[in-house]
Amino acid sequence: MKINILDNDAAIGEAVCKIICDEIKSKPGCVLGLATGASPVPTYKKLVEAYSKGEVSFKDVSTFNLDEYCDLPKDHKNSYFTFMRENLFSKIDIDMNNVGFLDGNANADSESERYAAAIEAKGGIDIQLLGIGRNGHIAFNEPSDSFTDEAWKVTLTQSTIDANSVYFDDVPMPHHAITMGIGSIMRAKKIILIATGASKAQAVRDMINGPVTPQCPASVLQQHKDVTVFLDRAAAALL
Ligand code: PGA
Repeated sequence: MKINILDNDAAIGEAVCKIICDEIKSKPGCVLGLATGASPVPTYKKLVEAYSKGEVSFKDVSTFNLDEYCDLPKDHKNSYFTFMRENLFSKIDIDMNNVGFLDGNANADSESERYAAAIEAKGGIDIQLLGIGRNGHIAFNEPSDSFTDEAWKVTLTQSTIDANSVYFDDVPMPHHAITMGIGSIMRAKKIILIATGASKAQAVRDMINGPVTPQCPASVLQQHKDVTVFLDRAAAALL
């Protein structure tokens, strides 16, 4: 793993934006794996800026998002689809036909097969963006007894519910989600993980220095050949 410790999330956003823009310039039809949550927001802001200045075009880019809540309409203000539309898709020239998203209201088994086939049909994910949960989860793969392969339906842990329920005001936060599995994430050619803030410090240490175990799902990234981690000083404090 390559570890970069930068001053703040704006600096991280700038650095990750540059990596993504360089990828798009060398491969205009590249496939991006995208994440939601607070961690990638500065990167999305920078990508929007780069697009607005005419430095990059997303018109041939394809994307696949990591996860989506179950039991929430796709257009609900708290859905991850809405998050991506507001933070990125509506502000760039991406063709929405090239946007892949898990359907949290579909049958999980058929949805998993559909998503795996769609990713494969595009030639696989070139760059996968990730955050990390306070409990070491990646996407919504929570600590468990085994690593999963393709997309699956998860029951969210209390740690995740506590972290994310602050965003829900009109409906209770769903307790289930559909998420890309660890295998689907590990098949990405390159992985970029962003973590900021003291609440991530223990998970970051376990990911980098701990044993590879499904009890800390992010630790599996030790076995991927091209992972770049971007941390601020607070998230790196226990390294
Ligand atoms: P965050 O979430 O970026 O909002 O901190 C990351 C995660 O839980 O995977």
